[in-house]
Amino acid sequence: MKATAHTNIALIKYWGKKNTELNLPTTSSLSLTLDKFYTTTSVEPANHDRFILNDQVVDATRVHRFLDILRQQLGDFTPLQVISENHVPTSAGLASSASAFAALTGAVTHELGMDLPKEELSRLARRGSGSASRSFFGNFAMWHKGIDDASSFAESLNAPELPIALVVAEVCDAPKKITSTEGMKRAITSPNYDRWLSKSANQFIDMQHAILDQDIDKIGALAEDNALGMHALNLTATRSPFTYFTDKTQLILSLIQDMRHQGILAYATIDAGPNVKIITTTQEAPKIVTILNHAIPSLKLEIAQSGPGISYD
Ligand code: DP6
Repeated sequence: MKATAHTNIALIKYWGKKNTELNLPTTSSLSLTLDKFYTTTSVEPANHDRFILNDQVVDATRVHRFLDILRQQLGDFTPLQVISENHVPTSAGLASSASAFAALTGAVTHELGMDLPKEELSRLARRGSGSASRSFFGNFAMWHKGIDDASSFAESLNAPELPIALVVAEVCDAPKKITSTEGMKRAITSPNYDRWLSKSANQFIDMQHAILDQDIDKIGALAEDNALGMHALNLTATRSPFTYFTDKTQLILSLIQDMRHQGILAYATIDAGPNVKIITTTQEAPKIVTILNHAIPSLKLEIAQSGPGISYD
């Protein structure tokens, strides 16, 4: 059985766990699924659990642990060979764990002959990687933080498709990697964390309105504010403060401000790495690519748009 799930970028971020075992987040989050980047995963019965990524057998403790969680949740099943192809340029710093765990959850449940609702799939995938809960849905998705395993799931916002685009700017000089899981552990020690939580709760509501009002400028402004707030937590962590930003990240942020002064709709969002995703309209995106290319010729740039939910074949 084969499933394809696209990656998603959070406009309102998940950045902190309330319960690490169940992977319950401290905030509700909201994302846009992207058209360009996806993972295709197929599973078939085997003698023992085996994970192959892009034709390479990799050490996949995380995948094995997740298959065991699925066994607990769905009832025992025989060992599986899992073959995954990531169509997310690994160096692009896009959250490939989102598309990977969503595709895996879809492929395993279908292999077991289960046709679960997407909300149910999102609860299962959440245990593999939080952001994966949002990758079952096309366009905009919301992950409700909930209070327990049953109430922490994602659903579609049922919003119209907008002419929104994300210019993905890949910064190559990446600093030493701090995983999302580790970054969150440190961020929650920031004295500003509680303030970020209450602000995020308001931004989550405001973002839904901005999307339903089809107000891309407001969507961008809210997303940038939310993301910069998240990165400020990393810098102000009491335990091992850090930043994902490099000089190029900072330079791109200031170029985005310049573009806004010139009247171009451009806002930044940044995840657990130095790359910048610029929220804009499909119409303005090529202009942004030209400006960034000119300013930083080494930058790799891609334009992504709203993408589809999970599919099977
Ligand atoms: C910054 O979903 O990768 O991209 O649950 O520990 O696997 P784990 O974390 P992960 O975190 C994603 C963090 C983020 C924001 C987001 O996608 O909401």
